[in-house]
Amino acid sequence: MDLQLEPFVIVIFGASGDLCKRKLMPALIKLAEQGWLPDRYALVVTSRRPIEDEKFKANLFSMVTTSAKILAQITDNVHVLADFDPSQGAKPLADLLARIDHKRRLFYAATPPDQFAVIAEALGNCSLLLDDSPLVLEKPLGHSLSSYRSINNAVSKHVSENLIYRIDHYLGKETVQNLLCLRFANLIFESLWNRSYIDHVQITVAEQEGCAGRAGYYDKAGTMRDMVQNHLAQLLCLTAMEQPLNYDADAVRDEKLKVLRCLSKLKREDIVIGQYGQGLVNGDKATSYRDDVDNSASSTETFAALKVGINNWRWAGVPFYLRTGKRLPTRESIIVVRFKSVPYALFSGLSELNNQIVIRLQPNEGVKLQVNNKLPGPGNVRVEPHQLNLNFSDVGNVMPDAYERLLLDALRGNATLYMRDDEVEASWQWIEPALTTERPALEQYPAGTWGPDNAQILLAATGHRWVNPQIYS
Ligand code: BG6
Repeated sequence: MDLQLEPFVIVIFGASGDLCKRKLMPALIKLAEQGWLPDRYALVVTSRRPIEDEKFKANLFSMVTTSAKILAQITDNVHVLADFDPSQGAKPLADLLARIDHKRRLFYAATPPDQFAVIAEALGNCSLLLDDSPLVLEKPLGHSLSSYRSINNAVSKHVSENLIYRIDHYLGKETVQNLLCLRFANLIFESLWNRSYIDHVQITVAEQEGCAGRAGYYDKAGTMRDMVQNHLAQLLCLTAMEQPLNYDADAVRDEKLKVLRCLSKLKREDIVIGQYGQGLVNGDKATSYRDDVDNSASSTETFAALKVGINNWRWAGVPFYLRTGKRLPTRESIIVVRFKSVPYALFSGLSELNNQIVIRLQPNEGVKLQVNNKLPGPGNVRVEPHQLNLNFSDVGNVMPDAYERLLLDALRGNATLYMRDDEVEASWQWIEPALTTERPALEQYPAGTWGPDNAQILLAATGHRWVNPQIYS
């Protein structure tokens, strides 16, 4: 335990929502159970809808696995403010906070983005934001570059940039942070991490789940906004960025920003988008996207594959392929860094056997390094690829959920794993053509497959092939 937090209060807006239930509350309970939280803290959960105090606490109790002390803390420290609409001002919240004597405050907007400015204004007008109170904003951060800008301008009138914590929960994943360790805590990789040695990079974030139950949000967003503009763009940045001056928030974000600004302009021929139809997932019949969202005319993409270039000295000419989709055969995320072939093949068969690093983000987190090895035996030297295998489960504790890390960082005032305004803006700028002028035709793919055939053709044109994450699980 490397820090002791001061007594604090967290105020969550949108407490009746899914995110609060599925992610934020379990993360807080875990942090409490593991002793990260001080004895004196308070949690205020607010919702525009009615929520019952007792039901809310009962749900929290059900998450506690260890100590009676935590149960007592919940009973004493959790306050439910239901039917609270910030557009009518924050007086009821101000009255409640006045009774809670903790100096540190964290506000968390787990709401749709149209509420961000309303919440910031209500907090500002009642002077509830202290000099060091972060306001955490959940994604989606807008729907386009211009909507992002208008949300941001409205929020910034009340909250200064260093206190706006924009979440991309992928940055809270252990394996994503480990990417920086792999690169910058080891001498052996970084010297090879450039266009002279790397042939191409692939980032696959595959999901098996469909979109049933999320129609309201997803059908307006699509995977380009839901996944590529944020999660995949961040993974790309961490894979490609230069070493930051230090591990401080601005130093890390400066380097990610440079990558975003070097991305080549997206062109229609470098993008494939698809939407899942009926199919078989894990042997079970799966309904089509249009049925899932009850919109027979929907043209929302549930799959995207992109070929991206980075215009700088380190990466010029090295393609970065990004792929993500719903209703794919498996839920697996990997980053594959494929090296060039040896310049001269001393042994036969070597030309195909390039070294590669496969970073498994989830599940079975770990890193596999493919090296070529002599097959034991007399006669001609026969070479075979083998995996040096680093399973994180063998070396560490259980992987914490991303939200545990992110909440703790926000409480400590550490914004390194949160996104800065200019980063989000640059990422919207980059993706905008794929949503508008360069958006290609939508193709259908059966649920349970790896997306439209054109996603394979996208790579075949440069002599590459997608790596199937299942091979490396
Ligand atoms: C969310 C998206 O941001 O990330 C979801 O809105 C997606 O559509 C989810 O399923 C994936 O996150 P994870 O952590 O399950 O990979």
